[in-house]
Amino acid sequence: MTRLKRTFLPRSEPAVALLVQLAAVLLTLSLAVPLVEHLGLSLSPLAVALAAGALAAAIGRAVGLSLWWLAINLLFWPTVAMAYSLSIQPVWFLAAFGLLLAVYWSVFRTRVPLYLTGSQALHALARMLPKDRAFRFVDLGAGTGRVLHHLAKLRPGGDYRGIESAPLPFLLARLSAALGGGGWCMQWGSFWRADLGKYDVVYAYLSPAPMAALLRKLRAEMKPGALFVSNTFPLPGVTPAETAELPDIHRSTLYLYRYDDIIGAEKDGAG
Ligand SMILES: C[S@@+](CC[C@H](N)C(=O)[O-])C[C@H]1O[C@@H](n2cnc3c(N)ncnc32)[C@H](O)[C@@H]1O
Repeated sequence: MTRLKRTFLPRSEPAVALLVQLAAVLLTLSLAVPLVEHLGLSLSPLAVALAAGALAAAIGRAVGLSLWWLAINLLFWPTVAMAYSLSIQPVWFLAAFGLLLAVYWSVFRTRVPLYLTGSQALHALARMLPKDRAFRFVDLGAGTGRVLHHLAKLRPGGDYRGIESAPLPFLLARLSAALGGGGWCMQWGSFWRADLGKYDVVYAYLSPAPMAALLRKLRAEMKPGALFVSNTFPLPGVTPAETAELPDIHRSTLYLYRYDDIIGAEKDGAG
């Protein structure tokens, strides 16, 4: 089974989950429903959807999807059937899809959704910024620009920039930068294309998924003397110079790495 999975299935979990959904609904419609009808029984659309959902969860488990994908697989077709029975105008589904797309954009690929740095983390981050010199700061995946907006007020000496690829958060951030007193700016696009060597402080609040690749990018580009601060998700195999555990509802931790921590870990063979 493992060999079969490696050979035939895509590497991305969302793509596997999608294939599993399609396989489950096709199997239900082409085999299970005719079989049940052959026995003289009939199934309501909701019963068909429940059967397709259960089959999708079972196939998902067999191919090793994570637990939360199994829950999505189980509930997807029943939710579609229930939404269909409510006779909602199709335009509302299109509008909801458009809104989700504008907020989450390529999250199926980046595996980094939108959530915002909390107030306590903002204040702890402000205390980590250099005190004795001007500095350039970048927020990788800046969302709605919340971090930049607050830091520009708390520590006005810095040159603050955010990079964001999702259209709606980017537009909200641009608007906030234009209306909110200035001191920071936004750039649209992927931070993977940015040169991190231009910055004295690099900040990220992402997810576990990109951290190993981000470590490689930092090693290749980070400027001597620069700092990297990650909210919640540490760099794999690198010991931070400082950590700040915060008593907020997310129990966030800020991990502060100096240039030497990141380059030294490479020399020590980590990552
Ligand atoms: C968890 S949010 C953090 C938002 C903000 N930095 C904060 O702390 O409040 C992560 C953001 O990164 C964005 N993102 C993910 N991958 C990205 C990429 N490759 N380039 C630019 N933005 C990205 C997402 O769209 C999302 O808005």
